[in-house]
Amino acid sequence: SPTVHLHPSILSADFARLADELARIGTADAVHVDVMDGHFVPNLTLGLPVVEAIGKATDLPLDLHLMIEDPDRWAPDYVDAGAASVTFHAEAAKAPVRLARELRARGAKAAMALNPGTALEPHLGMLGELDMLLLMTVEPGFGGQPFLDLVLPKIRAARKAVDDLGGQLALQVDGGVNADTIHRAAEAGADVFVAGSAVYGADDPDAAIRLLRETAAH
Ligand code: DX5
Ligand code: ZN
Repeated sequence: SPTVHLHPSILSADFARLADELARIGTADAVHVDVMDGHFVPNLTLGLPVVEAIGKATDLPLDLHLMIEDPDRWAPDYVDAGAASVTFHAEAAKAPVRLARELRARGAKAAMALNPGTALEPHLGMLGELDMLLLMTVEPGFGGQPFLDLVLPKIRAARKAVDDLGGQLALQVDGGVNADTIHRAAEAGADVFVAGSAVYGADDPDAAIRLLRETAAH
């Protein structure tokens, strides 16, 4: 099986104790940070100052997921705030190719996200500009929603497109990933898994990460 990458989402953590919560996911491959602006999605989370503080509190790479309007304006600032990768939404970006190039030029990995109802086909041409493609398996905005099986065919199509390109791109899924659903996403071809409630809802987040890894690989 391909390598399984596990990115816990701190959206499901206790925001009043972020440093402690980060210390509970030491076996993760990166920490997924959900930035929501109250406009692109009907929820408001955190922004640049808190991202900088998170970066100082952990050695894990920061995987920034920007659910915001006008990422063309704001996304590059998240590289300077310490992001290892920055994901913007295709539905929000005005000039996605230019933005992906700007993120890479600043020294981060560039990633683009598609909502469950957004087709993959119109975006295939720009996969070469990206380090990662995120296929949302819930409507973005909140943790704890059920995994949408209707996205599985899009994951399969994306896996084929990525393999045809030489397999350089990471294929991330986000939303409703848990011990019951991760196998379906992995079987469809995803290799980077975001999990919020499945990790932070567990008594032992590192044990939950281990279980998810094992479940995805079999
Ligand atoms: C949802 C966020 C997700 C969320 C996942 O809009 O992008 O990262 O934290 O939470 P779970 O794993 O609980 O669905
Ligand atoms: Zn996310």
